[in-house]
Amino acid sequence: SIVILDFGSQYSELIARRIRETEVYSIVLSYSTSAAELRKLAPKGIILSGGPSSVYTASAPLSDPEIWDLDIPVLGVCYGMQVMVQQLGGHVTAAVGKAEYGKAPLHVDDPTALLTNVESGSTMWMSHGDSVDKLPRGFVRLAHTSNTLEAAIALHTKRFYGVQFHPEVVHSTQGMVMIRNFVYNICCCQPDWTTSTFIDEAISTVRSQVGDKKVLLALSGGVDSSTLAFLLKRAIGDQLTCMFIDQGFMRKGEPEFLMEFFDQKFKINVQYINARERFISKLQGISDPEDKRKVIGREFIRVFEEESERLGPFDYLAQGTLYPDVIESSGTNLDPKTGERIAVKIKSHHNVGGLPKDLQFKLVEPLRMLFKDEVRKVGRALGLPEEIVGRHPFPGPGLAIRILGEVTDEKLNCLRDADLIVREEINRAGLYHEIWQAFAVLLPVCSVGVMGDQRTYAWPIVVRCVSSEDGMTADWSRLPDSLLQIISNRVVNEVKGVNRVVLDITSKPPGTIEWE
Ligand code: XMP
Repeated sequence: SIVILDFGSQYSELIARRIRETEVYSIVLSYSTSAAELRKLAPKGIILSGGPSSVYTASAPLSDPEIWDLDIPVLGVCYGMQVMVQQLGGHVTAAVGKAEYGKAPLHVDDPTALLTNVESGSTMWMSHGDSVDKLPRGFVRLAHTSNTLEAAIALHTKRFYGVQFHPEVVHSTQGMVMIRNFVYNICCCQPDWTTSTFIDEAISTVRSQVGDKKVLLALSGGVDSSTLAFLLKRAIGDQLTCMFIDQGFMRKGEPEFLMEFFDQKFKINVQYINARERFISKLQGISDPEDKRKVIGREFIRVFEEESERLGPFDYLAQGTLYPDVIESSGTNLDPKTGERIAVKIKSHHNVGGLPKDLQFKLVEPLRMLFKDEVRKVGRALGLPEEIVGRHPFPGPGLAIRILGEVTDEKLNCLRDADLIVREEINRAGLYHEIWQAFAVLLPVCSVGVMGDQRTYAWPIVVRCVSSEDGMTADWSRLPDSLLQIISNRVVNEVKGVNRVVLDITSKPPGTIEWE
């Protein structure tokens, strides 16, 4: 495996994903991980990530100096390269007038080792305000850019490499060539991180963890819980019970689809809990978005507790925890001295469908070392159809946060119909997979219209479509006029209670993807 020591870069996880794309396992650990701990883990290589600090300041995070004696290859990326230089006796300084942000052509001086097959002149992504102005003894330059003399460096005998740019981001056109060079040529890794080895190992780990005990899984129909259900069904068969709580905020046809798919087609035991009445009555008179989320979250936990008691007892609870949650909660990004975060991390999502920490279950979390794209691969390999594996994200509180203000049955029905039209037409236009999310929002204000000879006074529907990599930032989708016209016509003609369609052309930031 390759260990990434995280100095607080927003790209640390991305480096880990890139390594895994080469079929080599990688994990992200705190920069403060000791050489002794690393020796125990015995990784084939170590990568020092970028970070927001300057190595020459007193509070700068540095690595355990003994990692340089481990006889393990090291690649320093951006700040990580500066740490390497500083700790091995070179010098780093503020690059006054020479800071470099954005794309830069890389001029290769030494096309061996790390830069084997990296074309001179290829674009690399730069983002640094500090530069190396003196190399440590024994180091040589591998490449430079017009602004940065020491853009890639090496101490070949010790297999230490540093790059001032970011090979992991897509703008670095030959970044993956470099990463492969490091992983395979320099660290001599084997390509053994594959979907099928993961599945085999996960199944045997779950079997030995669970034994003959019973496991409960809260199934939402999203990619993670669906993949988990398939994996556990394979591992422990009928010891698995899934609970599907219908809050009444699902999209049209969704509860029926899920029950038919899991319970009937794949014979996974799914207990359908109809809690529609409970949720909608709890939301009566509540219009503040945060209050709505809290009420839904609380009610979800109540229903879950009651029903698990009724169906149980269960020894284990299966959860679809993913690796980004594990990295965040392990305190990777905390400064050990001050306890402060050293990178600004925005939570990937705020799942109000989450379960309380104090439930009396032991946890089964076989996906906890996977990134989202890896979960999708596992799901596909286990036989989940594209309809589930490739689906857009859907928020835990569902349609309740797409109806602004108070939620009523009438508004839910109206939104469900409009939402279905938006999704159907996006699909028909073949745009589903190019779009991150596409949905309708209902605004509870009335405007005047005319249909036939009749004056109407009804609600508008907002069409919200965005493209995004991870949901943290997003751009509104430029949909073809012809598609917008069809959506508009259909919604106004087919959805009772709606007389107007508007388009949301706000990106995130400053908007959010959802409206509440
Ligand atoms: P925002 O609206 O914050 O949404 O830009 C970012 C992403 O998160 C999803 N989202 C949620 N997911 N529970 C979830 O599981 C929630 O409460 C929730 N709120 C927003 C949203 O759909 C988008 O993909």
